[in-house]
This record gives sequence, structure tokens and C-alpha cells, in this order.
Amino acid sequence: MLILGIESSCDETALAVCRDGREILSNCVLSQIDMHTVYGGVVPEIASRKHVEAIGHLADQALSQAGITRRELDAIAVTAAPGLIGALLVGVNFAKAAALALDVPLIPVHHIRGHIAANYIAFPELEPPFVCLSVSGGNSLILDVRDYTEIRVMGSTRDDAAGECFDKIARVLGMPYPGGAALDSRSVGGDPNGYPLPRTKISGYDFSFSGLKTATLNVIHNAGQRGEDLNIPDLCASFVSAVCDMLVPRTMEALGETGYGKLAVAGGVAANSHIRAAFQKQCGEAGARLFMPPLSLCGDNGAMIACQGYYEYLAGHLADQSLNAAATMTPDRNFGK
Ligand code: KG4
Repeated sequence: MLILGIESSCDETALAVCRDGREILSNCVLSQIDMHTVYGGVVPEIASRKHVEAIGHLADQALSQAGITRRELDAIAVTAAPGLIGALLVGVNFAKAAALALDVPLIPVHHIRGHIAANYIAFPELEPPFVCLSVSGGNSLILDVRDYTEIRVMGSTRDDAAGECFDKIARVLGMPYPGGAALDSRSVGGDPNGYPLPRTKISGYDFSFSGLKTATLNVIHNAGQRGEDLNIPDLCASFVSAVCDMLVPRTMEALGETGYGKLAVAGGVAANSHIRAAFQKQCGEAGARLFMPPLSLCGDNGAMIACQGYYEYLAGHLADQSLNAAATMTPDRNFGK
């Protein structure tokens, strides 16, 4: 089954063709980062306008790279939630028009379920159940993936997402948006104990990152006020170490509770070298299998939407022409329910 996957929830216009949920035939991503960098973050209206401009060309590109015509598509899958509402609506409306014109099923996909599905593409042997830590610019979630379309939220952030904190700290340090990757590389060789930063622990498997964000910003501002130089590698390493200490043990506890012995990591922050190394170590010690998609599949892309779309299709989760986008929605909910 050939599915066109469409992703436009934030600042990437991404379209891909996948076969049977596991094989990528094409994966075209147009990032708008250059356009938003000057503002230090995503400007929603600009994002929507750029999606409108790019989406038709990217669809043609995705089809031609896949070596198929649009008539060969069996279904259209699209991110319908969560995300920037104007940006989502561009993808949803394009998907509705395509499904109508081609007379094929329309499959709404939850963005986070797409991130989880990046692991199915990277690891053909991976099947639910497993635990997934999904960490990106907009969310930080520990998920019990009982089945492809049956997901339970075990823990989530009570305030900021981990990626938001990376981006904020990086911005104040003068690094370009989005700063996660830059902060990651500046931390190399730094002393993770160079600056004492807090680790917030709250009940259950929930996270809270706002205290760490504020404490790190205070270190930066206090140094500025006193005219002191900051040791940037030490500060970056201390910050990343604190994020790891909050994400990794909690996720391992959740994994232990389920007894699945399989952990997947997903989302843009899953590209972080320290987080990857920490999970490798912890899973090795716990005898658990670890699945981490390659960096190219960690960020937003259309292939993950086409892949998850296949499993939503098999579960009968289809939409009609009344499909709307939603800015917020938890990944345990199915569309239409
Ligand atoms: O999944 P994604 O591409 O988009 C969302 O759905 O949010 O994630 C983007 C986030 C940004 O906050 C970015 O700074 C962060 O992922 N990120 C990283 C790294 N690479 C990207 N954060 C930490 N370390 C990295 N290497």
C-alpha cells in the first residue's frame, strides 16, 4: 500500500511516500529555519504562508523521487494535531483536496505517533509493546505503546518541553535557532559539574523543566551583571547533564514497571549525543533493547506520518471531508473519538 505522508505542524514542510508503513520511497523536507532564525523562534503566520507556497512543489518532488504517479497512491496521511494551527491547516486542507481528487482514503495522524513511528522505519523488527520517550520542541512524554494505535501516557511535562529549554538557553547564549544541536556540540569537552544546576523531581513519571531553565538563565544573567566570563562548554555540559538526569532515570523506571524490556526514543531532542549515550549505558545495564532512529528521522518528516498512517488505516481510523486540525491533543486519543 502506497501512502503519501504530509507533515506541516511547525516549521518543516515535509512530504514522503512510504510502502506498507515500513519502506521509504521518498522523503522530502523543506525546512523554514532560515526564515525564522532572524526572529529567534518560529513566527506562526510566516510558517503557514511558507507551507502554502511549498506544499504543492514538495508533493510533486515526493512522487517523482518515489518514481510513481499520483494515481498510484492508495491513501493520503496527514498530521492533523498537535501543532501551530495555521500551519496544520495548510497540510490538512491539501490532504483533503488530494484525497478527494484521487478518491482515496484520508488518514489523520497524531504528530507524536508519527515520531514514534520513525522507529518502525529505522527498525523493521520493532513491534509494540514498548515504552517510548518522545522529546521534542513541543513535548516531553513517556508513552506506553501497547499497540500501533493504542497508546497510554505514563508521564508528561508539567510546564516546558525539553526542546523548548534547549532553544531558550541557546538563544540567550547567542546560538542560532533552533539551538538544541548547537548547544549539544558546544557541550563537548565541558565539565558536567562545572555549574551546579537543579534536577526537578515530581511525583509519578512527570517532568518539570522550567526550574532548570530559570536557574540556567540566572547563571547567565548574573555573570553578565558581574562582568564575569562564562565557561560556555562547562555551562552547556552542566545543562545537558541536568536534562539527562531528569529524563533518563525516570524513563528507565517506567520501562521497568511495564516489563517490556524495549525502549524507543523519538523526537528532535532524541538527537542529543549525551541523551543517546546515557540511554545506551542504562539499557545495556538493564538488559533492555534500545531503539533510537537515525538523526535524519528524529526531526519532523513526512515518512513518519506515512508510516503511522498505514497503521491508523489498518485500525480503521479514517477521516472524511469534515476533518479539522487541532492545536492540542494527547497521543492516547484517536481522531473522531
Ligand atoms: O521533533 P522536532 O524536529 O520538532 C518538534 O516536533 O518540536 O524537535 C525540534 C527540537 C528543537 O527544540 C531542537 O532544538 C531540538 O529538537 N534538537 C535538539 C538536538 N537536535 C534538535 N536538542 C538537543 N540536542 C540536539 N542534538
